[in-house]
Amino acid sequence: MNYSIAIDGPAGAGKSTIAKQIARKMGCIYVDTGAMYRAMALFLLRNGIAAQDGEAVSRKCREADIAIRYENGEQIVYLNGENVNGLIRTEEVGIMTSCVAVYPEVRRKLVELQQKIAREGSVVMDGRDIGTCVLPDATVKIYLTASSAVRAKRRYAELVQKGERCDPDTIEADIIRRDAQDMNREISPLVRAEDAVLVDSSDMDIEQVTETIIGICRRKGCL
Ligand code: DC
Repeated sequence: MNYSIAIDGPAGAGKSTIAKQIARKMGCIYVDTGAMYRAMALFLLRNGIAAQDGEAVSRKCREADIAIRYENGEQIVYLNGENVNGLIRTEEVGIMTSCVAVYPEVRRKLVELQQKIAREGSVVMDGRDIGTCVLPDATVKIYLTASSAVRAKRRYAELVQKGERCDPDTIEADIIRRDAQDMNREISPLVRAEDAVLVDSSDMDIEQVTETIIGICRRKGCL
């Protein structure tokens, strides 16, 4: 029997790191839905579309063919046939992503793709609306969060490691702005699903969070 584990939460809560570990330990696929929205934002940026121009976004997004494949266990996002994994993790793309993720045409297209992937096998899927909208019948729903200060610190360390120049205060301000945008949009806002288990990772390390969630999955009958 296929199972699905939905992990939602704000930016920088550790969703992708944790979801990847869980998928590896449980032997299922990790689906990073943020990467799909990021690929869409990259496409719109490249085409000079302004995030505020809803009509242009809704029209242009139809031309983006977004697909994911797995190579050596890693999710690769293809945008019109091009591997864009190395291009979608910048702050510029992150901010554009949060702005264009508000449009129904963008969401409809990507939600369909996400639901199709989940129908094909067991998944750990992370995002903002997985437990509430994409997989409302998910076997396990987790709402993973941490304080904005902790999330900003983690994001800063990640960017520094990648050699990106950044300022910690700007990172925290960006995180707070993105949270507000993701939580207050009209369509599929980031909210904790009623039946999601809240996990606050502020004072936990990766191993502790992973084990906590795997424990919840086992109790729910996932292997
Ligand atoms: O998880 P992330 O930082 O890669 O997500 C980038 C943006 O995409 C985030 O600001 C919100 C949006 N997003 C969304 O609206 N729905 C999802 N399922 C995943 C991401």
